Amino acid sequence: MDQSIFADGMLKGHVAFVTGGGTGITGGVARALAEAGASVALVSRKMDHLQPAADAINRNGGRAIPIAMDVRHTDEVEKAVAHTIDQLGKIDIVVNGAAGNFLCAASELSPNGFGTVVDIDLKGTFNVCRATFEQLKEHRGQILNISATLHYIGTPMQLHVSAAKAGVDALTRNLAVEWGRYGIRVNAIAPGPIADTEGMQRLVPAPLKERLQKTIPLGRFGRIADIESAALFICSDAASYISGTVLVVDGGQWLASNRMVGS
Ligand code: NAP
Ligand code: COA
Repeated sequence: MDQSIFADGMLKGHVAFVTGGGTGITGGVARALAEAGASVALVSRKMDHLQPAADAINRNGGRAIPIAMDVRHTDEVEKAVAHTIDQLGKIDIVVNGAAGNFLCAASELSPNGFGTVVDIDLKGTFNVCRATFEQLKEHRGQILNISATLHYIGTPMQLHVSAAKAGVDALTRNLAVEWGRYGIRVNAIAPGPIADTEGMQRLVPAPLKERLQKTIPLGRFGRIADIESAALFICSDAASYISGTVLVVDGGQWLASNRMVGS
């Protein structure tokens, strides 16, 4: 972020494990956590964007390590967690941003297409939560899941992601209840359409952009910085009594998306 309203060094001494932390929205969240003083492990499949993202944070005075792994493979997740503890000392913030998406009608979607998205978004989120539990328990840490609003209504061509993200919301609430006794907070952010991201590129064909923007009460698409600010708030002590919440950051978009009357 160019200018932060948050206190300098707010997350100094914290260590974040950020899946999907090399690109897009979660890349921005990782960068913001690092600018706030946290050390960050950037975790996803492809070193070709993880490495430059980590280099940029390190050049900027932060501390980041890139780790290539697939959230679908529990052995790789466990190794990535161990490597982070070895290099950065602990894990007390987990951000689950790894996800896959494509537009596909339910009638055309193959079982493997449905399963692949559920495996990455939902089971991948569980795999990472489960593998980091002992660290989160030891350090009274927190989990921040990146969800969506697609499943609040019946979004065409998005059955697979809607099912997966509904599961992520359920997991967020359930873990908040089960792990609250260890001082672990579990929350989610549900972004609306965020400009200049892979998600927008895949889901909103260029000719539909203007029409979609007109439906957003605040009159603009979200920015990655909007999600960064929400994430910093949730990860900060200002949110120390907030757990089990899904914070919608969408300019009011989903509420206005199914209007029957008016313009
Ligand atoms: P993105 O840049 O493509 O982010 C997805 C990330 O997930 C990538 O960094 C990718 O890195 C990683 N990933 C994918 N499969 C993986 C796997 N099997 N194991 C580990 N990492 C994997 O897209 P984005 O649009 O910024 O989306 C970020 C998050 O925001 C997602 O959770 C998405 O559902 C959510 N969201 C986005 C929007 C939007 O408008 N863009 C709206 C609502 C919600 P690798 O390729 O290196 O694995
Ligand atoms: N339409 C319909 N089905 C599709 C598809 C599309 N556009 N893209 C992939 N699939 C299906 C494949 O056909 C395959 O099913 P099949 O075996 O029955 O043919 C299944 O999904 C798995 O595809 P594959 O390419 O092997 O998966 P992968 O593990 O290599 O990649 C994806 C995962 C498909 C989610 C890929 O798009 C990806 O890596 N996405 C990450 C980035 C992203 O989506 N960002 C946006 C986040 S909002």
